[in-house]
Amino acid sequence: MKRLQYDRYGGPEVMRLAEFEPPRPGPDEVLVRVRAAASNALDWKMRNGEMKLMTGRSFPRAMGHDFAGVVEAVGAGVTRLKAGDAVLGRARFRQAGAFAEMVTAPEKAVVLKPVDLSYEQAAALPTVGVTAYQATAEIRPGQAVFVNGYLGGVGRAAAQFAQARGASVAGSCRNPAADEAHEIGVEPVVGFGFDPAALAERFDLVLDTPGMLTFAAARTLLKPGGTIVDIVPNPAKMIRSALPGPFRAMMGRPVTADLEEVARTLRLPIARTVPLTEVIPALTELEREQRPKSGKLVIAMAGS
Ligand SMILES: NC(=O)c1ccc[n+]([C@@H]2O[C@H](COP(=O)([O-])OP(=O)(O)OC[C@H]3O[C@@H](n4cnc5c(N)ncnc54)[C@H](OP(=O)(O)O)[C@@H]3O)[C@@H](O)[C@H]2O)c1
Repeated sequence: MKRLQYDRYGGPEVMRLAEFEPPRPGPDEVLVRVRAAASNALDWKMRNGEMKLMTGRSFPRAMGHDFAGVVEAVGAGVTRLKAGDAVLGRARFRQAGAFAEMVTAPEKAVVLKPVDLSYEQAAALPTVGVTAYQATAEIRPGQAVFVNGYLGGVGRAAAQFAQARGASVAGSCRNPAADEAHEIGVEPVVGFGFDPAALAERFDLVLDTPGMLTFAAARTLLKPGGTIVDIVPNPAKMIRSALPGPFRAMMGRPVTADLEEVARTLRLPIARTVPLTEVIPALTELEREQRPKSGKLVIAMAGS
């Protein structure tokens, strides 16, 4: 079996395809033959060592979290899934390993794949979908949401969920003049360098997907009683989040019902699909490029 892994923290040059022996699934785990996997910013943040306080110093480390495939085997305590089921899911945060021909994941982070979704479409959903679903959970019909970076993975998902919950959605993207910026019903659309004063006190929720708004800018956008959700936590943001006030730093949690809802309702564009043999140049290019992304990078396994 092949997988993408690295032997030390570092840039794209540390990635390599290697043979590995898939582990037997633990009692609460499923072993999945991967048909497609999808990349997230988390993949290279972990590989760069940005999270080494949490990820530790044991190597080699496998890459990739989001996958879709077919259950090969289940642990003794697994009741909801069985061998042969078509599924989508997310590998454990520290363990990763979705950019591989086989991956293990906890049962609670794996759900049945709807028949109308291809494996590629399904693999694109778990991380960004569940995060966006949970970030928009408190939205009520008639409310107004500002999504900073709404053409990214979490941003597109959050715009869809907020609209489905009956909210109006405004947001920022790199190029507000592009046709794509106006195709998903986000209005008004502003550039990254927008003046918050022009949109003062208009929003019940400000969702900062790249975590780049200053607190003052985000607070300017908020209606009284509104909430700021930032999904790129750091120690200072965690402290602010624990204090009374509108600011919340958030991490997506593996909740089975949320992933089921994501699989049922969310659809995201795929920008590019590559085979596992081309994953290293494709990830390297994606990581280094600073241009608008038109969707997810998906890795399709041989035979899928
Ligand atoms: N807390 C959690 O549980 C959780 C879950 C998922 C992701 N995340 C984190 O959330 C972040 C976004 O994830 P993602 O998957 O949505 O990434 P993504 O697909 O790369 O999207 C990021 C978006 O932010 C935009 N952006 C870049 N610079 C910006 C700026 N100065 N102002 C406003 N927007 C800007 C990007 O635009 P361009 O494409 O034009 O560059 C892109 O649309 C990542 O840091 C990721 O690690 C956290």
